[in-house]
Amino acid sequence: MSTTVPMNRVPVGGGTILPDGVVVTQPVEGTFVAFSTTCPHRGCTVRAVAAGTINCFCHGSRFRISDGAVVGGPAEEPLGRLPVVVAGAEIRVGEPAADPG
Ligand code: FES
Repeated sequence: MSTTVPMNRVPVGGGTILPDGVVVTQPVEGTFVAFSTTCPHRGCTVRAVAAGTINCFCHGSRFRISDGAVVGGPAEEPLGRLPVVVAGAEIRVGEPAADPG
């Protein structure tokens, strides 16, 4: 699975939920992080990015946009992280970084 999003669709200090199971965030300017949208609590899809967290509305779990860690709610595991490659003005998610070896 891989997907691409234009950098300008990902707000600084926030993020964007893509239709294909990916949420991309920009916790600080120029730093892009991506996660699976599958909530690790019971498998709902996270629905919003607001005030520094990625939010699941099923039971109220919230995950930090910088690393996916649980901030609140019943989830005990972080959101699953996905590899990100910045290519020009686009962010590619789901492709491992090039192997330097
Ligand atoms: S499935 Fe997301 S909080 Fe329960």
